[in-house]
Amino acid sequence: MDTLEKIIGKNHAISMDDIIREGNPTLREVAEEVSDPVDESYFKLGEKMLTFLKNSQDPEIAEEMGLRGGVGLAAPQLDISKRVIAVHVPSTNPEVTEPEFSGVLFNPKIIAHSIQDACLADGEGCLSVDRDVPGYVVRHARVTITFIDSNGEKQKVKLKGYPAIVVQHEIDHLNGIMFYDHINSEHPFALKEGVLVLE
Ligand code: NI
Repeated sequence: MDTLEKIIGKNHAISMDDIIREGNPTLREVAEEVSDPVDESYFKLGEKMLTFLKNSQDPEIAEEMGLRGGVGLAAPQLDISKRVIAVHVPSTNPEVTEPEFSGVLFNPKIIAHSIQDACLADGEGCLSVDRDVPGYVVRHARVTITFIDSNGEKQKVKLKGYPAIVVQHEIDHLNGIMFYDHINSEHPFALKEGVLVLE
């Protein structure tokens, strides 16, 4: 059975077994755009991807299914070389149950970005990378993106902080770029002046 068909199967829930790991050539390909209007099969794929992220953040479900916690997933990580990402970034305020940013983005594109850069204080990780790669991953502090949402509507959104970083990590996957490609191998924690370090 074809990978997409398997993943969008009625009784299939995405697990770590569906996620390909570094070394798989699909992770280095430039993924293809999905057609607009978006085909129903890709809407289903996006739904499964978002459900995976929510499951991975639920301690009980994650334990039961053996999931590593994740805030973003890109279709190429499922060996599907299409421009589809899902993002589920919880609020940093534990009293707020609404996520800070959540959704499925088809053909996401950065149309503008800040001159200021930013990185996460703890570096980055990836569900396709089963090892720690320490170092700052310097990205744009703020981005304006366009995409097609899960209702098939065109959207334009401005992001900053953690959601901006996550979306850039996932869009990188669509272009065959891994987070550690951005790390300075000689000086992994060297930073230029003015780079925002997000705690
Ligand atoms: Ni990743």
